Amino acid sequence: MATDLKKEAQDILNDNFQAGGYTIPCKGLYPFQWKWDSGFIALGFAHYDMEKAKAEMKTLLDAQWSNGFIPHIVFHQKSDSYFPGPDFHQAELHPLSNKQYPSTGMTQPPVLGFTLEKMYKIAKDKTDVLHFIKENIGRVYDNHNYFYKNRDPKNEGLVYIYHNWESGTDNSPLWDDIWETMNPPEYTFERRDTTHVDASQRPSKREYDHYLHIIDIAKEHNYDDAKIAELSPFLVQDPLFNAMLIKSNEALIDLYKIIGGNEDKVAQLEQWQAKSMASFNEKLYDNELGAYIHYDLRNERPIQFVSSSSFSPLFAGIPTKEQAATIIKTMMDKFGGDDMYLCASFDPTHERFNPKKYWRGPVWINLNWMLYYGLLDYGYDDIAARVKSDSIELLSKVGFYEYFNPMKAAYEVEQKGYGGGNFSWSAALYLDLINN
Ligand code: SER
Repeated sequence: MATDLKKEAQDILNDNFQAGGYTIPCKGLYPFQWKWDSGFIALGFAHYDMEKAKAEMKTLLDAQWSNGFIPHIVFHQKSDSYFPGPDFHQAELHPLSNKQYPSTGMTQPPVLGFTLEKMYKIAKDKTDVLHFIKENIGRVYDNHNYFYKNRDPKNEGLVYIYHNWESGTDNSPLWDDIWETMNPPEYTFERRDTTHVDASQRPSKREYDHYLHIIDIAKEHNYDDAKIAELSPFLVQDPLFNAMLIKSNEALIDLYKIIGGNEDKVAQLEQWQAKSMASFNEKLYDNELGAYIHYDLRNERPIQFVSSSSFSPLFAGIPTKEQAATIIKTMMDKFGGDDMYLCASFDPTHERFNPKKYWRGPVWINLNWMLYYGLLDYGYDDIAARVKSDSIELLSKVGFYEYFNPMKAAYEVEQKGYGGGNFSWSAALYLDLINN
């Protein structure tokens, strides 16, 4: 592989950037704009082409609904290389959906607040980026308002996700026990992902039946949030999703203070923030495991597994110093052996761990990126350095893949990454890591 990784990363981003002003995650497998991908991609562009970073943010925000919701995929153009497309999702059923941009009726983690702040920090021309932020920050605020107003039925300061695709960690073993509570019909459909990627690295057909069934239930109720909260078989408070919301709340507060004015919004954000942080530590911290966990709101039970999402609260400054010490110890004990790259996406000591299959074990660069900054914030510089060097070693060894086998021994057998190649966020976050 080329020795100039920085150039290669920039070439990947430039090549995946589309004429419409947005970037596809990778060719073939993901031919549209994805919400959390877009945030990470904008950060990568910010290091060398701020105009593209701004375009990335703007095209996503343009697809916002009038209730503040931002969809997880924006179908900017037609493509038959992806399933399920706009004809399946039918987001237009929601009365407040954006009629100009076909999209899904589900969302993804709220990355846009901290993305805007990072763009500002990276920018050489602060005046120019601040102007862009002033024009767009209100739309990100509206998105947070949507979450707190519609996704927190018990008023806990913790928002729910109603679909595993909203988590971003699509087929994590975390959801297996929820699938046990459901019995979806056997759908007939043509998978497209497995024409691009080896089926052993992707979710199973039966898993897809569950994914489609949850969407069908939401569609029956025109994607009405209150109905979804009442009826969706999948309703989860996810520490990764909520940590990103909290991190983005903080970023919006900081940015509004730089811009000046907007006291009402700052006060509201501070109120959400205080409540969210307190509930997070009360409800999503598991003493027994020494880690943050997910909570199944539909079945009213904690989901007691350790995954890379369990450490993401470090990124948002949520744990106390003591909690941070405990969760980092849990991470190093279970995920940090010398025979492994940090950080597997699911507990490597658990029988459900699979080092090759999508979110059931492989390393993902975006989770590593969050972990890196979180560890630095808490003063764990040595472990942060390892997360960074492990990430860079993987990318240098096999290229800018979507995900990676955490077991070092695997690379003695074959030098390869998994999922999509020339993957945008792996390239974008590499550019950020080497610039820090
Ligand atoms: N990541 C999902 C997929 O694999 C959708 O968000 O298709």
